[in-house]
Amino acid sequence: MSSFNLQEFFTEVSLFSNMDKNEIEQITKICVERSFEKGKTIFYEQDQGTSFYLILSGQVKIVMMSNDGREHTLGVLKEKDFFGEVSMLDGQPRSATAIALSDVKTVTLNRDEFHKILKDNPEMIIKIMYVLCKRLRHADKHVESLAFLTATGRVARTINNLADEIGVKDNLKVVINHNMTRQDFANIAGTSRETFTRVIMDFQDEGLLEIDKNKIVVIDKKELQKRVQ
Ligand code: CMP
Repeated sequence: MSSFNLQEFFTEVSLFSNMDKNEIEQITKICVERSFEKGKTIFYEQDQGTSFYLILSGQVKIVMMSNDGREHTLGVLKEKDFFGEVSMLDGQPRSATAIALSDVKTVTLNRDEFHKILKDNPEMIIKIMYVLCKRLRHADKHVESLAFLTATGRVARTINNLADEIGVKDNLKVVINHNMTRQDFANIAGTSRETFTRVIMDFQDEGLLEIDKNKIVVIDKKELQKRVQ
């Protein structure tokens, strides 16, 4: 991506929307573009954090691993989302692992640059806090899901959340384009792969979803929401 396009891209990212052209130009000069192939680990939980990442293209999953290699997905991030802010803010090691779900392009800022930009732009701190609050609410809901929902309810909530996070509206439908395996989805829902598959097939038979290889089309989001129980 040329620096001209990069500047245009930044103006479309909510995090930078309070900045004027000059400030954005300064940032495009100091940030570093980085690419990651599909499947590549961008960083591991407990790594020392050195950078803040903004996604230019592609999808990134944020996961936690158990000692026996099981994976739990905390979130899926897309173009214009950011990650890596936690270590930048608290100076602690990475709170989770970031993996490229597709080929991914990012821009990164190092810690000193990130802090300087925050000091010069207090609105950005509020926007980051807003995203942190959203992630906290999401994490609370997830704990609630595991504690109180049936497997069907957890699958319905997972699909609904993904529709909100990475879905694209198409009239009344929402199209979730993804690069995830059934196991990835099951990890998010907190079910086995078999249970996840059985439940989405039931939803498809009922006309709530259409399932394709790298795509789930949510046909009836309201009805799906009713299954969150
Ligand atoms: P950091 O701790 O630096 O590295 C891991 C990153 O994963 C973290 O910053 C956040 O940017 C991101 N992250 C952590 N938890 C979540 C979550 N629940 N949803 C989305 N992103 C998360």
